Amino acid sequence: MSDRGVWSLLIVLMGIFLASPGQAADISLRSIYARNYELKDLVETSARGRRGVVFAFFKVGCPAVDLAIPELKALYSNYKDRGIAFYAIYSNGGTGLREVQVHAQQFDVPFRVFLDVGQELAKTWQVQRTAEVVFVNMKQGILYRGAVTDADRTGRRDGRYLADALQSFLAGDAIKVASTRGQGCLINTKRPAPIRNLTWYKDILPIFQAKCQKCHRPGEIGPMSLLSYKNAVNNAPMIAEVVEDRIMPPWPVESPLKLENDHRLTDEEIRKIVSWIETDTAEGVPSDAPRPVVWPHRDQWLIG
Ligand code: HEC
Repeated sequence: MSDRGVWSLLIVLMGIFLASPGQAADISLRSIYARNYELKDLVETSARGRRGVVFAFFKVGCPAVDLAIPELKALYSNYKDRGIAFYAIYSNGGTGLREVQVHAQQFDVPFRVFLDVGQELAKTWQVQRTAEVVFVNMKQGILYRGAVTDADRTGRRDGRYLADALQSFLAGDAIKVASTRGQGCLINTKRPAPIRNLTWYKDILPIFQAKCQKCHRPGEIGPMSLLSYKNAVNNAPMIAEVVEDRIMPPWPVESPLKLENDHRLTDEEIRKIVSWIETDTAEGVPSDAPRPVVWPHRDQWLIG
């Protein structure tokens, strides 16, 4: 390698090294409208007058989170016009966008909520429990991390940790308690290992016949056909995303009841589709295929 080559390599390596510590530059968070935002969009380039951001780690079905929400809401209304932004981050593996929407709506969360896809943010900040908050300045420097209050442990609220941190920070004082231990539920950062040896004809086509092709075939409302192996492979990354987020098949109401003509995917079906896409995306042999569906002509009445 020439001298110049060595130097440019060194400079590139230094760049990577300098950019890395805690500066989660390209972490992407997904909004409930399925749009991706980078962490730096939420921190550095936010509104003028912004001085700090509170990231609250939520989880669906964790009592400690539900208990912390009222205090967070109170702090939000107190501080939203004083330069502090609040975001809720759902980091648990296996949580879909639809569940996040429903939870945020149920608790009337007044600030923006995001899904931490792949738990990148939780891993970067080493957040292990939900109901923890990470309060950062506009350079992503951590000012306070830990529990919102000590209410979940004692039932009383003498320790309003986050409230104290916010107050001290805005007053220009030192933050006395800069970290506490969270009491919430452990965040599951492990994804189940993908299922192996799945094939299109044997495992995936039957699911697509039952849950997708009603809309995803020529002349129907879905934007692309999903009848053939080729169709599915060509759209594979997008399919994995929409089924994991539970955006597809579209389903208006979240209901525990099993309704007739329910096209929602089961957890097992989601795991199969995502595993198939993440592993070989193999075609397999046509002799494994289910019986072909005879779709009615589009002018015919189709219930469901
Ligand atoms: C009830 C009809 C219906 C069913 C059933 C359905 N889809 Fe869709 N799908 C749509 C429509 C309409 C769109 C386009 C509008 C949208 O993106 O919301 C779409 C969009 C998509 C997209 C593109 C998303 C994007 O970002 O552009 C993918 C991928 C997809 N569907 C996959 C699936 C899969 C996989 C299934 C089965 C598991 C499925 N759909 C079931 C109607 C349906």
